[in-house]
Amino acid sequence: MKTKTIYACQNCGFTAPRWSGKCPSCGEWNTMTEETQVKESAATSRRVLPENRTTTRQKPVLLDEIVQNNEERIMTGIVELDRVLGGGIMRGSITLVGGDPGIGKSTLMLQMCARLSGEQPLYVTGEESLQQIKSRASRLGLDFTGLRVLAETNAEEIVEAMRSPEAGVIIADSIQTMFRPAIESAPGSVAQVRESAALLMQAAKTLHKPVFLVGHVTKEGTIAGPKVLEHIVDTVLQFEGERIYSYRILRAAKNRYGSTNEIGVFEMSEDGLREVSNPSEVFLSQRNAGESGTAVVAAMEGSRPLLVEVQALVTPTSYNVPQRSATGLDYRRLQMILAVLEKRLGLALGKHDVFVNIAGGLRLDDPAVDLGVAAAIVSSFRDVAIQAETVLIGEIGLTGEVRAVVSIEQRVNEAQKLGFTTILLPEANMKRFNKGSTTHLKPAERILQALLSVVGE
Ligand code: TYD
Ligand code: MG
Repeated sequence: MKTKTIYACQNCGFTAPRWSGKCPSCGEWNTMTEETQVKESAATSRRVLPENRTTTRQKPVLLDEIVQNNEERIMTGIVELDRVLGGGIMRGSITLVGGDPGIGKSTLMLQMCARLSGEQPLYVTGEESLQQIKSRASRLGLDFTGLRVLAETNAEEIVEAMRSPEAGVIIADSIQTMFRPAIESAPGSVAQVRESAALLMQAAKTLHKPVFLVGHVTKEGTIAGPKVLEHIVDTVLQFEGERIYSYRILRAAKNRYGSTNEIGVFEMSEDGLREVSNPSEVFLSQRNAGESGTAVVAAMEGSRPLLVEVQALVTPTSYNVPQRSATGLDYRRLQMILAVLEKRLGLALGKHDVFVNIAGGLRLDDPAVDLGVAAAIVSSFRDVAIQAETVLIGEIGLTGEVRAVVSIEQRVNEAQKLGFTTILLPEANMKRFNKGSTTHLKPAERILQALLSVVGE
């Protein structure tokens, strides 16, 4: 193995042969630090290639002749996790589980191990002692038959442990503590994170065993040693949530083996993470129905509809420039909605501060929540509450039209299932419903007409 010195940006992972004060890639200052890069000799890199992949030329095969192997997936039995993974764990895959410290990554991985007793899980810890793992496991009160634990941070030693037939599914917690001895920089540096992950990735592929890497997210919201890691791994799962709320959302930021739209919902409790299979009920359970400034929207998270409360607070501003704040919602989307409300409804929002918040610490990127956001804002502005059994669905266009949205049946079904009796939806979506089944449905064509019907005097 040969090593050479390079300079790596600790922010974006860009590497250069020479030092510079400013990273040529991301433009950050003073982030380039000296690191050693391992150059595998041609012989070593050929040795780590999987048996079915050689450097010699491959022959094309007929797609019809490829036998599909349904044994490739390991179901964890944690429905919320299996769904986000794309239908269980793919053998030989490498998954990065990222999230803020304390959000519950280690807990999730340990609970997964409890479900994998037949698969010989191996939990490698670089952060906690074996005693700490033991006490956490006892607190969870689960059956950990078959789980092996190893305190190790040397990635090469971990690969050795992975070769054992007693290691079937490997969890490395966390990748920031792992290192390769040949590299001089400290654990947690871009070079160490990248090289350790690359080594574990090769081992996952050659040994055909799935590996989970736990990674802490930096305050900028990226996983330390960031982009490089995302390129290496097959799947990136983000574990999110506000620490003050007990809900946790698991989403796939990248998935070679499934969709990136699915989310898993959990609740952190005294005895670990609980699956939330009816998220709408949970997110609506602390609703402030009857208060002005709140509206219920029906958003799609992957294939699941989710009813959530939107809260808005509109107050006269005491500054020259009014404040706007969006939590759980795209800021520019909020500005667009405010501009439409000013122009099409003549609302004088320019002299008001506007705060919008999605309840429960969720983040919604679905444009179908526009109408509900607008309604919450108008409701707070006028101090008129929206009738409690109302759900609003619709995207707002720049001319003030209510635009059709996708998956309308699922959204409406979910609202009806939870007892909502007034469902505002885009006129253009109405043709999806039979004449007989439209008693609760109120079609809306223009935002003015729609909002007058829910917050008009
Ligand atoms: P942890 O899984 O250690 O987070 P991470 O690995 O992402 O840093 O979760 C730690 C937090 O979860 C900690 O604040 C305590 C809390 N927790 C519970 O509330 N209940 C439990 O049963 C467990 C195990 C942890
Ligand atoms: Mg942890």
